Amino acid sequence: MSTTDARQEGAPDSRMAPASTLGVFATLRRAAQVSPELLDGLTLTLALAVVAATARVLVPIAVQQTVDTAILAPGGVDVSRAAALVGVAALGLAVGAACSALVNVRLFRSSEAGLLTLRTRAFRHVHDLSVLTQNSERRGSLVSRVTSDVDTISMFVQWGGIMLLVSVLQIFVATTLMAVYSWQLTLLVWACFLPLLVVLPRMQKGVNRRYAAVRERYGAMLGAVSEAVVGAETIRAYGVSARTQRRIDAAVAATRRAMVRAQTLVAVVFSSGVLVANLVLAVVVVAGTWLGVAGDLSVGRVLAFLFLVQLFTGPVQMATEILNELQNAISGWRRVLGVLETPVDVAEPGDDAVASPRGPASLTFQDVGYAYPDGPPVLRDVDLHVEAGTSVAVVGATGSGKTTMAKLVARFMDPTTGAVLLDGVDLRRIASADLRRRVVLVPQEGFLFDGTLTENVAYGLRDEAPTGGLTPEAVARVERVVAELGLDTWVAELPAGMATPVGQRGELLSAGERQLVALARARLADGDLLLLDEATSAVDPVAEVRIARALRELARGRTTLTIAHRLSTAEAADLVVVVHAGRVVEVGTHADLVARGDHYAAMHSAWVSQTR
Ligand SMILES: Nc1ncnc2c1ncn2[C@@H]1O[C@H](COP(=O)(O)OP(=O)(O)OP(=O)(O)O)[C@@H](O)[C@H]1O
Ligand SMILES: [Mg+2]
Repeated sequence: MSTTDARQEGAPDSRMAPASTLGVFATLRRAAQVSPELLDGLTLTLALAVVAATARVLVPIAVQQTVDTAILAPGGVDVSRAAALVGVAALGLAVGAACSALVNVRLFRSSEAGLLTLRTRAFRHVHDLSVLTQNSERRGSLVSRVTSDVDTISMFVQWGGIMLLVSVLQIFVATTLMAVYSWQLTLLVWACFLPLLVVLPRMQKGVNRRYAAVRERYGAMLGAVSEAVVGAETIRAYGVSARTQRRIDAAVAATRRAMVRAQTLVAVVFSSGVLVANLVLAVVVVAGTWLGVAGDLSVGRVLAFLFLVQLFTGPVQMATEILNELQNAISGWRRVLGVLETPVDVAEPGDDAVASPRGPASLTFQDVGYAYPDGPPVLRDVDLHVEAGTSVAVVGATGSGKTTMAKLVARFMDPTTGAVLLDGVDLRRIASADLRRRVVLVPQEGFLFDGTLTENVAYGLRDEAPTGGLTPEAVARVERVVAELGLDTWVAELPAGMATPVGQRGELLSAGERQLVALARARLADGDLLLLDEATSAVDPVAEVRIARALRELARGRTTLTIAHRLSTAEAADLVVVVHAGRVVEVGTHADLVARGDHYAAMHSAWVSQTR
């Protein structure tokens, strides 16, 4: 499935109620739509679970039958009957154990498959969102939200759901059987348990709250530690080690306190469960003996009761715990489904799609205005036409909106007003796959991935690149573009040539070298319209010459829009566009604009006096 498909599937249906408003069952239903694997073979799993739960009841029945009809038989001990009953019980237990093992395996399989789909879809959607909004903070919180919410969901789907059913079933079967044996004892047992049923859910809520506090403290602790590790240089440079250490110590201590508080309550909950269970056993023994002596209850039934009570106490505790988990899972699902529903800012064209064949590209801005979400307008009334094959330099002060213009052309987002057109066609009507083939953006700070130079340049092959390793053809193409851009002399100076590792984010390369890699990547991507956002960081003269040469080579025969920080780029361009506070204020050749004596002329003379 490509990113595009995921985007369409993930697109919210306008008739759907938002996930945050859904009730429990509606949430579960929609969750099952998103991860249908969760329901795979569920009927058989449920049937197996019912068999497993019922098989456990065989033991008390067998005990009662053995004692009352074989050992205490009117005509003396009936050994063969006792043996047969024990055999049946053993067989029942074995079948029950096998069924419950099968249930676990099947649940694990289907839930992992379902969670895989959920995770993949959610992360892919977050990726689609983030490429468009370019807001790393929001992206980070979405990723952690999806991660932790899927974890809570997995707790429930892996065993909670089925255990809840099994527990309820077991409580029901045990109660029925107890009632058959003795309604008086059954009432007593329930009377002992009722207080626990009232108190337990409350205690569970408390446990939940305290564990939430633990997770929060734990996150803060990890944050403090990782910040100290990442910022180690700054911490040492400013001599703030002691302060940092105190912060970490405080975070560690807070985590410990939260953990102790949570565990204390868990111990109380657990002990009260054990206390009530033992109390019930004692009550059954005493009351059972009393009823037995009165002749209302057989020895076998009293013994069976002892087993039944145990089949009953476990599930009661478990059910309250799982109901709690269910609440967590439901809210986790609501949040993850909410993420999936967040519309991506850029929609694929529908029936009005227009094919955009390869070839020389012209670019038009038609009355374009843009404001970032919840932000002021950063582009206003931009009108601009660039003929195919023209090289355009966009210049302007920092923050004037140049990068924003480039992002609109690459359609990272759509303009708030007006339209951007490629060959006269509104970008909104061009399929994203077509657009990506034709428009290539080299960002200000190109991202390098941990790997070799070859691997990083090969990202320019985009999805043609196979996932498991590069083919010899791909490697050859990479080497060809490196040579075409005149970068082979640079590569030859590197310790391992094209096999040189670049490190995480390319940290083993210099800023200038990272730009060279980005240019080679763009050459490999081979678009019709090239958007170059020149890096602001200065590089040494040798690298500068290399970059300039590679850029000239890259731009040859293509329409290029270069966001120029060095006015030498503008001098060489066919057309210069001056952006000032979100508006295009001047368009013309370098010579025209210098002669005009306005914005550009002022920038240019300032630059000349500074550099020459
Ligand atoms: N992701 C974003 N969210 C909100 N506002 C943004 C975002 N990116 C840029 N802006 C704002 O938009 C305005 C234009 O930014 P832009 O990056 O287009 O400037 P620029 O001309 O490329 O500057 P520079 O020369 O420094 O690269 C700025 O005021 C900036 O604060
Ligand atoms: Mg910029």
